[in-house]
Amino acid sequence: MQPEPFRIKMIEEIRLTTKPERIRLMKQAGYNVFQLKIDDIYIDLLTDSGTSAMSDKQWAAMLTTKQAYAGSNSYYQLEKIIHEIFGFKFFVPVHQGRAGEHILFSTIVKPGQIVPNNSHFDTTQANVKFVGGTPMDFVVDEAYDPEKISLFKGNMDLEKLENFVRQNRNKIPLIMTTITNNTVGGQPVSLENIKKTSQIAKKYNIPFFIDACRFAENAYFIKINEKGCKDKSIREIIKEVFSYADGCTFSGKKDALTNIGGMVATNKREIFEKIRDMLVITEGYPTYGGLACRELAAMAVGLQESTTESYLQYRHEQVEYLWKKLHKAGIPTVNPVGGHAVFIDGKKFFDHIPQTQYPSQTLAVELYIEAGIRGVELGTSCFGETDKKTGRMILPKLDLLRLTIPRRVYTNNHLDYVADSIIKIYKRREKIKGLNRVYAPPLLGHFLAKFERI
Ligand code: F0G
Repeated sequence: MQPEPFRIKMIEEIRLTTKPERIRLMKQAGYNVFQLKIDDIYIDLLTDSGTSAMSDKQWAAMLTTKQAYAGSNSYYQLEKIIHEIFGFKFFVPVHQGRAGEHILFSTIVKPGQIVPNNSHFDTTQANVKFVGGTPMDFVVDEAYDPEKISLFKGNMDLEKLENFVRQNRNKIPLIMTTITNNTVGGQPVSLENIKKTSQIAKKYNIPFFIDACRFAENAYFIKINEKGCKDKSIREIIKEVFSYADGCTFSGKKDALTNIGGMVATNKREIFEKIRDMLVITEGYPTYGGLACRELAAMAVGLQESTTESYLQYRHEQVEYLWKKLHKAGIPTVNPVGGHAVFIDGKKFFDHIPQTQYPSQTLAVELYIEAGIRGVELGTSCFGETDKKTGRMILPKLDLLRLTIPRRVYTNNHLDYVADSIIKIYKRREKIKGLNRVYAPPLLGHFLAKFERI
């Protein structure tokens, strides 16, 4: 096991509330963990996005960079490292991943067009819809069999993709692949699969973009699990992954180890010019992209740190540590472990709660009440849609609770506490009832949804 390749220089106090307090707070929050306050949370596993602990070098870079509207030095620092790591010719910084999705889709996706992806994340899906497009997922079938242990369950189903592209060529403005595949459990995508997806895109002359949020974690999976990749360095793998793509969208809040930031990069000049023009209107001048210049500096340093092997090994093994504990205790997890989180199959955990009563959301509520831990539902509340004709809920295939591990933040002692708390709930699961949703806005409704206990 790779122990932490760092030591702790600064700490932040956390407070465990009492159970009666948590029962009251959860009710007040409409049984939606997004509505809780951080001071009332003991261990926050809502997301790995923007929650990383930054290094002394990142903070130092933030302090020493100069703030400028145009021509900031951190922009050039970031440009250099992006070129070195990803190899793309052009890039624009943006304030976070979805801002990049918005400027990319609003320039190249027209109403009525379709965007294939292995699996869209919720914001990616919402941004395609926002410009009048239809997001479609082509992930391999085994991704929908949570407990099956198989490598690269995040892969694109190449046959299904090609059949679809052949029949709909003129309706497809771009093809995307998300690495790692967050929606199906942070599962990795193989180098081979990325290469073949790119070949399909080239054959039909369609731009191929990667949603690169967790590109470094994905590269680590390739290194340890893909045939012929053990002796390649992480940087070599990353370079090869992106050599197959025409561009990427990226949220720096994940694998750039920052609290904010992102970028869109591409080799295609005509796409770059369009997104740069859109950037100036919606985000800001291209040398700051909606960020303070110090945030660009933190991203530049973070990208170097997140692409080192000792860091990635530690990161992978910490997430795996929690997964192993739960898996061994018989908790129905998504298998094998994902890159940034442990996912629990809510439908199996509570096999007496129908999916229309939000089993994973119920587990999120119980976990907070039991132990002050916040996980997040990625299931019926997040991805369920209302059928416009019948008014009925279209249920997503997966209904998961995600325990997302922030980077360099918690110790394995914290994770032991998390595992023990989930095992406790599992033992009394039969007594727990589901939830009714009483309110949800139409797009990204899960953030503001309200529930009542049944
Ligand atoms: N794509 C993927 C695969 C993501 O996981 C996210 C964010 C985004 C795009 C959007 O990036 O938040 O910087 O705008 N995922 C976070 C999560 C929110 O919790 O999984 P963003």
